[in-house]
Amino acid sequence: MSPNRRRPLVGGNWKMHFLRDDATRFCDALLAGGALPADVVLFPSFPLLHSVAEALTGSEVGCGGQDIHPADKGAHTGDVSGAQLVDAGCSWVLCGHSERRHDHGEADDLVRQKAVTALRYGLTPLICVGETQAERQAGRTFEVLERQLRAALTDGPATFTLAYEPVWAIGTGETATPEIAQDAHAFLRGQLGDMLGETAAEAKRILYGGSVNPQNAAELISKPDLDGFLVGGASLDPEKFLAIIRSCGSDT
Ligand code: PGA
Repeated sequence: MSPNRRRPLVGGNWKMHFLRDDATRFCDALLAGGALPADVVLFPSFPLLHSVAEALTGSEVGCGGQDIHPADKGAHTGDVSGAQLVDAGCSWVLCGHSERRHDHGEADDLVRQKAVTALRYGLTPLICVGETQAERQAGRTFEVLERQLRAALTDGPATFTLAYEPVWAIGTGETATPEIAQDAHAFLRGQLGDMLGETAAEAKRILYGGSVNPQNAAELISKPDLDGFLVGGASLDPEKFLAIIRSCGSDT
């Protein structure tokens, strides 16, 4: 790894998978993997959070929620608050994942509100942005990324991590080429530079997500503006997930 490189971060987004036994078995296998060359955080679904946080106690691996409601508490059936996430052992939360945007109609401004609430509870928001296939084909990728990013960060959280997740690459097996990913990450870092200043932008980790697997991870992470991964499908298998994490430890 280059000496000045940002320390990589790898997130495992379990989505709506696993029961408690699967989750604790996974954590045992992950922790048996020894020292890792990246920061690691798991995003289990809400009913698994307590068990996962407990299984990870004393380790460096973090735990995060897949969503957060912007209100502190109240009549919001099916939602989860920042205080509840912290109480369950979380230190992170996903904000604006494309499946939330698509399945639950989450608009850009709601993503900002969620990220601001997360930070208020001491949770680091991992803000996800990414264009659809149609938007890419229409040549609108950068316009969409800029809109999503500015909406999330204008009057938004002061601390956050960013993930570029092209919607067309999520769960499809169609990974962005390292060049496509690098172009988008460089663009996002440039936008962060405009908004936060060069030094802050250079320090920010920008993760790539979308069909990452042990075969494509090393080439992706070799790109200068990729600082880790948000992994869905391959994060359900501890061996694959460990292989992806380990690929962050060597320059290719
Ligand atoms: P995938 O999902 O790795 O299964 O494409 C990534 C994500 O949705 O975060």
